[in-house]
Amino acid sequence: MIEFFINGQAVQAEDNQTVMQAARANGFYIPYFCWHPHLSVPGNCRICAVEVEGEGGGGGWIDIACNMPISKGMRVLTDSDKVRTRRKETLQFITLNHPVDCGICDKAGECTLQDYHYEYNGSPSVSRDAKVHATKHFPLSKRIVLDNERCIMCTRCVRFTREVSKSDALGVQNRGDHSLIRPVEDDRFENDPYSDNVIDICPVGALLSTQFLHKARVWYLEPTASVCPGCERGCSVNLWHRKTAWRLKALDPQQNARIDRVTPLENPAVNGPWICNKGRDLAQIFERARAEQAMHKGRPVDSKTAIDSARALIAAAKRPVALVSNWGSNEELAAFHATLGARFDTFVKTDWQAAPGERAEDELLIKADKNPNTKAALALFPALPADARSAFPADTDLVLVWGEGFSFAQLPPNAKIVYLNSYLQPENGHADVFVPISVQTERSGHYTNFQGTVSAFEACFAKGAGVVDAEALFAALGATR
Ligand code: SF4
Ligand code: SF4
Ligand code: FES
Repeated sequence: MIEFFINGQAVQAEDNQTVMQAARANGFYIPYFCWHPHLSVPGNCRICAVEVEGEGGGGGWIDIACNMPISKGMRVLTDSDKVRTRRKETLQFITLNHPVDCGICDKAGECTLQDYHYEYNGSPSVSRDAKVHATKHFPLSKRIVLDNERCIMCTRCVRFTREVSKSDALGVQNRGDHSLIRPVEDDRFENDPYSDNVIDICPVGALLSTQFLHKARVWYLEPTASVCPGCERGCSVNLWHRKTAWRLKALDPQQNARIDRVTPLENPAVNGPWICNKGRDLAQIFERARAEQAMHKGRPVDSKTAIDSARALIAAAKRPVALVSNWGSNEELAAFHATLGARFDTFVKTDWQAAPGERAEDELLIKADKNPNTKAALALFPALPADARSAFPADTDLVLVWGEGFSFAQLPPNAKIVYLNSYLQPENGHADVFVPISVQTERSGHYTNFQGTVSAFEACFAKGAGVVDAEALFAALGATR
């Protein structure tokens, strides 16, 4: 450790740190555009300028904090008059050709260019020349549209594809104020399963999600901490939805109960600051047509009647088998184990397999098991054999199936079926008793990922009137035995 000074205050830092790293570690803020803690340091935006005081308090010099190593006794000023003047000049340069279209920009409210303009500049443009125009709506991929006029050429997006996703999919074309971010021409960016991270790391509104394009102002939304169930990595995510105070009235009420976007929730133990595109698309999983009606062989009944019938079938069964879901939370699996585990021969089934064309596995985040809680489930129950039929003894007279991904064609023909599922599927109507259960966005709980890291998810939407939480259901089914 070495000692140096920030704004006159002595601080300790590792001797291989830059001024930016040491300042952040000691609670001092220095603005930045091109620097990112998980990317290389190009030093191209110059907004992180700081002043280094000269010997004996004499005249110092200005340099960029992100690429300047600290040295013993060095004295740095992060907010002096000289620094503020340099940042103002830098911002005037950066905004020379930047359009003032914050009013229609999805990044407004989260844009560091807006924030720094108000902090360090705040003046109209000093240029008498017309702005250089560029492409306003360039489709980088089906998922991402690029506004070249808003791009400040920080190259974070380019470096992300080189250094993190390793697709090498983006580059800079032309020079000077004609520079353009462009994708390489073999669809590599289209096929990069991590491409949407560039939307988050773009410091301005140049890279925009086509899913979220002009859907909502971010200040009307709020995040709920959750866990992506897309694979056994279990990345931490924020599910963004409308704030209660800004609920839309006189429109389809579903607008207030939908996931507007998904962003990474930085978690060094699991996913760092990144997620894959499947995590961005969780609305496509959770917002499929829901099952909300309990049934007896396809005939609607109320949930209480269905639960009573299931309980009676369980009480009467001589050889019951259960297939539990590896999308069940730690709490739900524990509840099943405690209340019904001794009553059933129980196996863990695999609810989801990789979809056609989906990346199976890689070294960054994506794991081959496309389910969030296999580790916790297998800690309590054995896996369903590859030939599922071998799990059912000849005298099996009841099978409880929890969750998706299991074909009823594999069930013993004469066994009664109790089925618990969240989505509208043909199997629901074939079960002797069907009970609709809640999804992850309607309840709180935890998953245990493949490394044994436990992550929490919170409820953000109310469940339907006929929908039951599996944890409460297992308590009800086990209570009267
Ligand atoms: S598109 Fe965004 S991230 Fe990429 S260089 Fe431009 S400003 Fe930076
Ligand atoms: S790597 Fe797995 S857990 Fe993480 S976002 Fe992608 S699908 Fe979800
Ligand atoms: S953040 Fe230091 S030059 Fe861009």
